[in-house]
Amino acid sequence: MIIGDQIRLRGIEREDLPSFVKWLNDPEVRQGLSLIMPLSLAEEEDWFANVLKQSPFERPLAIEIQPDPQKEGWVFVGNCGFIGIDWQNRLAEIGIHIGEKEYWNQGYGTKVMRLMLKHGFEHLNLHRLWLRVFKNNLRAIRSYEKAGFTLEGKFREAQYFEGKYVDVMIMSMLHSEWQDQ
Ligand SMILES: CC(C)(COP(=O)(O)OP(=O)(O)OC[C@H]1O[C@@H](n2cnc3c(N)ncnc32)[C@H](O)[C@@H]1OP(=O)(O)O)[C@@H](O)C(=O)NCCC(=O)NCCS
Repeated sequence: MIIGDQIRLRGIEREDLPSFVKWLNDPEVRQGLSLIMPLSLAEEEDWFANVLKQSPFERPLAIEIQPDPQKEGWVFVGNCGFIGIDWQNRLAEIGIHIGEKEYWNQGYGTKVMRLMLKHGFEHLNLHRLWLRVFKNNLRAIRSYEKAGFTLEGKFREAQYFEGKYVDVMIMSMLHSEWQDQ
């Protein structure tokens, strides 16, 4: 378990899969992700079988939040993880989704990102952590800025979405910037 401020990250269990199917079929959640086609439980089970074969460092993690810090109740709300860890150059991409929309805009996404940054820099000894985000995903961009990411560029019109091409923004943080925070 990776533990932060009102956040904990744990391994994904088979019982989590129906929640992912529900979230990842929700049009509002999908807007920020590059998912076009409906997702079935069977596909999610296949995905989970592959997750178990991945390196433990790159396995997606379940996000649990503690809405009331005075109480022991934890709520499973989404997942996050490192993608494509490059151990020679010590970099990785970060992915995140919070599927329980009632918990959006309450700072949890920012807290998850801070925890992933801490884990990546302080435990995995990574040097550069980066992410991709669609230019129209203003909530996500704001959340990443709050976590300390810098906008470093964009892939122009790299995503086709609802009849329009959208820029894909690249944001990153270096270990030295994390230490300076
Ligand atoms: C993106 C995501 C992880 C952010 O998590 P979150 O917990 O909602 O984000 P936070 O509450 O930490 O921060 C959101 C910020 O965006 C702001 N915001 C929300 N909607 C906004 C909008 N339309 N324009 C500008 N800012 C907006 C919020 O007010 C908040 O900023 P504030 O604290 O300064 O007020 C989450 O919403 C999510 O998983 N969405 C669906 C999937 C997705 O888009 N994943 C990201 C793929 S790159």
